Amino acid sequence: SEGLSDIQQEILELKKEKNAVILAHNYQINEIQEVADYLGDSLGLAFQAAETEADQILFCGVHFMAETAKIVNPTRKVILPDMDAGCSLSDSCPPEKLAAYKEENPDVYVVAYINCSAGVKALCDVICTSGNAAKIVSQVPEDREILFVPDQNLGQWVTQKTGRQMRLWPGSCYVHVLFTVKSIERVKEKFPGAPVMAHPECTDAVRSVADHVCSTEGMVQFAREFPGENIIVATESSMLHRLRRDVPEKRFIAAPAQQVACGDYRTGTADRGACNYCRYMKMNTIEGVRDALKYGQPEIIMDEEIRKKAYIPLKRMLDWSR
Ligand code: 13P
Ligand code: SF4
Repeated sequence: SEGLSDIQQEILELKKEKNAVILAHNYQINEIQEVADYLGDSLGLAFQAAETEADQILFCGVHFMAETAKIVNPTRKVILPDMDAGCSLSDSCPPEKLAAYKEENPDVYVVAYINCSAGVKALCDVICTSGNAAKIVSQVPEDREILFVPDQNLGQWVTQKTGRQMRLWPGSCYVHVLFTVKSIERVKEKFPGAPVMAHPECTDAVRSVADHVCSTEGMVQFAREFPGENIIVATESSMLHRLRRDVPEKRFIAAPAQQVACGDYRTGTADRGACNYCRYMKMNTIEGVRDALKYGQPEIIMDEEIRKKAYIPLKRMLDWSR
């Protein structure tokens, strides 16, 4: 624990005292990444949450991720530093709207991207993440018509990869749709030969100028294997901390998002990527993490009926992705 701040040291001590495990998403601030027991993408985090034997899970990510941890491992106490850490994708598909759609279309097979609420999970047939989406969709019985919720961009990417046509819910991630072809081309000109890694939540136009489209964990993998020095990253900006930590010998350049998105960008350089951050992921602060551990709250509390229903498609995903 050399080089850690006082508050980070305090977190490590509290963690021991409470027998807690800290699970953090790749989009968390660097200080949080440094104290995490496990750092990864939604799929890795779901597996870790299901398997942990710690008394408490301190989840550093957004609400649907902490909820997922509770669904797969209900006997553990799950805490999230800030209950307002939501997700624009999750918000785009309220359970009532999906229930109404299903009422009208009772035969549809619902595949839900994990970025949705427990209420939505409880209404669907199988869950997927960006790390296993094509694998999951290709296991859906061929005679069933699929409704994919809530991310239309990820859904479209899955169709491109698998050839499987699906109805798409009109949701999107407000961070990833701000990358544009122009913004990517500008940065490519500055770093000729550098490949672009893009998250599948980016638009089709952006994905088509990318060299590699994958989940955040897939980016770490690609970066390890790519022989060149420079790599352009089109996803949330904290991903660069994770990449720099795991693949320190390479240089990562944040693709800039559309300038309208943030005032900051205009005064920054192209590789600062100041506007590519997710405001929800950034609601978790290092003080918030300390306080959550110290006071054991805010805690994820879920209706048991909903939890049980949401567990079925999540369990199916875990089984289908092994
Ligand atoms: P990953 O599962 O690829 O880490 O993506 C999570 C997310 O919220 C992307 O915006
Ligand atoms: Fe949701 Fe987008 Fe933030 Fe990921 S980056 S948590 S999809 S709003």
